Amino acid sequence: MVSSGISSGNSLEDSSGTVAVVGAGVIGLSCAWRAASAGFAVRVYDPAPGSGASHVAAGMLAPVTEALPTEPAVFALGAAALRRWPDFAAELTAAGADPRLRTDGTLVVALDPGDRAELDRIAEQLSRMGRPVDTLSGRQARRVEPSLGPQVCRALSVPDEASVDNRALLAALLVACRGAGVEFHAHRCLRPPSADVVILAAGAHSGALHPRLHRMIRPVKGEILRLRGRPGALAPPSRTIRAIVGGRQCYLVPRDGGRLVLGATRSEVGFDTDVTAGAVRELLTDAERVLPAVAEYAVEEAVAGLRPASPDNLPVIGELEPGVLAATGHYRHGILLAPLTAEVVLALLRGEDGPGEAGPATPARLPPVSGDASHDSHRHSRVARSAP
Ligand code: GLY
Repeated sequence: MVSSGISSGNSLEDSSGTVAVVGAGVIGLSCAWRAASAGFAVRVYDPAPGSGASHVAAGMLAPVTEALPTEPAVFALGAAALRRWPDFAAELTAAGADPRLRTDGTLVVALDPGDRAELDRIAEQLSRMGRPVDTLSGRQARRVEPSLGPQVCRALSVPDEASVDNRALLAALLVACRGAGVEFHAHRCLRPPSADVVILAAGAHSGALHPRLHRMIRPVKGEILRLRGRPGALAPPSRTIRAIVGGRQCYLVPRDGGRLVLGATRSEVGFDTDVTAGAVRELLTDAERVLPAVAEYAVEEAVAGLRPASPDNLPVIGELEPGVLAATGHYRHGILLAPLTAEVVLALLRGEDGPGEAGPATPARLPPVSGDASHDSHRHSRVARSAP
């Protein structure tokens, strides 16, 4: 039960103590699960729970290689989130279903001298950041992953990265939410629903839900292919392979059953989710140079999702105004950041400060909306105290 406003001074004394979550992607479901497990009465609003960008994602838990050293704040947030993943996955499994965490690490590979120089630069920068990585020759890389092609001439091994099966994760979160008593409402919210505390977790659609998110959260389209290895073809790699191919990046993320997620394009074309022929050609051309056996694989699915991006590529997690929290803007890192985001949101619901590591995600950094005085704190402000 939500019993009192803290920083905001909003009275919740006459309330029914409800928490409404708008959006049932990985962020909304993680927040809903944690809040319901802590005793809050939680309603989730989404016409199609477990769909959207979370359904399309590759499921990489890859703070180093997703935020290659140009984005230290994104990297630090991701590293804090990755530390939480083993417990998060174990608790989800205990709650009913296994999100299939794989902890085999990432290999980043280069195919030509320009890409090799880029890889060496990344290795140097990571080492300066105190994150030394192992550099392998092409031959050494093929010893580790025999399906890599002969054009691979350099690789960086990042052993402590991981991945989950995003769809198994969504299924597990739905089971866990239902088990914790979360109520699902299958409608699209055009404005925040009425509740004591509302959590806006509508991904790329969040910008329409609050003036402080308007023009701050934009969709960045990503197209992926889902492939399946066929009998007779070399088996997929056992760990995530990221590649720089002629300056373009792609990744191949293994799944159980000889399957592989190949991604991803990045384009800013509004809310368009068509998969273009050019995108499919680009992904397959690059992937085949990295992993020639891909040419023999079956294409099971081609699909696009909309990443919710913010101007600085950091998520927005915290209070927008009394009784309204944002948990959005996770851009390429929604799956990775889910446990940390849910932890921040639960802390705020309880009237506590969120973990310090999540400080850079505060909405206080968003530009003010005229007449809005609710964002003058430079830390996560408290929302309400739970007495479940
Ligand atoms: N996290 C992978 C991507 O956004 O493409």
